[in-house]
Amino acid sequence: MSVDIDLDEAVTVAQNAALRAGAIQAERLHTDFKVERKGEIDLVTEVDLACEEAIINVIREAYPAHIVLAEEKGRQGDGDSPYLWVIDPLDGTTNYSHGFPFYCASVALTHRGVVLAGAVYDPTRDEMFHAIRGGGAFLNGERISVSRIGNMISALLATGFPYSIKTTDRNNLKEFAAFAMSAQAIRRPGAAALDLCYVACGRVEGFWEFHLKPWDMAGGALLVMEAGGKVTQSDGSPLDLYKSDIVASNGLLHEAMLTTLRNA
Ligand code: IPD
Ligand code: CA
Ligand code: CA
Repeated sequence: MSVDIDLDEAVTVAQNAALRAGAIQAERLHTDFKVERKGEIDLVTEVDLACEEAIINVIREAYPAHIVLAEEKGRQGDGDSPYLWVIDPLDGTTNYSHGFPFYCASVALTHRGVVLAGAVYDPTRDEMFHAIRGGGAFLNGERISVSRIGNMISALLATGFPYSIKTTDRNNLKEFAAFAMSAQAIRRPGAAALDLCYVACGRVEGFWEFHLKPWDMAGGALLVMEAGGKVTQSDGSPLDLYKSDIVASNGLLHEAMLTTLRNA
C-alpha cells in the first residue's frame, strides 16, 4: 500500500470536520429543525444535511482531489484518487430527533478500502475519539484500549437494529435474544459509530449489527482495531466496509460472539 499523505495531518482534518459537525448538532438540538422520512422509520433532518456540508467543506479545503462518500449525498468528486473519505454526518438521527443524547459525527479516510484514519465526535459529552492506522486509538488525546473481560456472563454488549426491521429476515431479534440469555446485559444505544468507540475504550466488551453502511462502520472499526480489539464480519471473515455486517469485540470474547451468532 503506497500512502503518500501525512496521516497526522489527515486525522487532524477528520477531527476538525467532526468537531464542526458536532458544533452544529449541539447548536441546533433544541430548534425546530425540519425532519423528513427516507423510509417508514428512517429519518433525515436538516441538521444531517448541514453537518454533511460542513464536513465536506473542511475536507475539500484540505484535500481538493480526494473523493468523498457521504451518507446523504452519496459519492462526490472527480478524478481517480485512491483516497476516499467516508462520512456519517450525524450518526444516531433517530436519537437526535427525539433529543435522546447519544449521537455523533464520524469522518474516516480510506485508501483502496483500508481505513487509514478516523475521528468520531460526541458533542453531548465533548468526547473526541480518533485513530490512525498503526498509531493507536485515543479519547480526548489519551490512549484508550479495549476491556479485559473474557467471559460472556460478565460482558456488557451493544447492538442495533436495521431500519428494515419489519421487512428483513435478518432483523437481529433472534441474535438479540441469544445474547440476552448469555451476556450480562445488552444495550441498544442507537449510534453505531459511537457504539464501536465504546468497544474501543472498554465501556462495552462487544458490538454486533447487520445491515450497516460503510459510513456507520469506518471510523469506529479503526478505533476498535487500534485499541487492541478485533473486528470481523459476522461469519468471522475480515471486515469489508461494503458488506453490511460487523462484529467488534475486545478480542477475548470474539469467538464466543461468533459462536452465539452462528447458533442463534
Ligand atoms: C443508524 C444508527 C443506528 C443503527 C442503524 C444506523 P443513522 O445510523 O447507527 O444505531 O442501528 O443501523 O443506520 O441513520 O442514525 O445515521
Ligand atoms: Ca449511521
Ligand atoms: Ca447518519
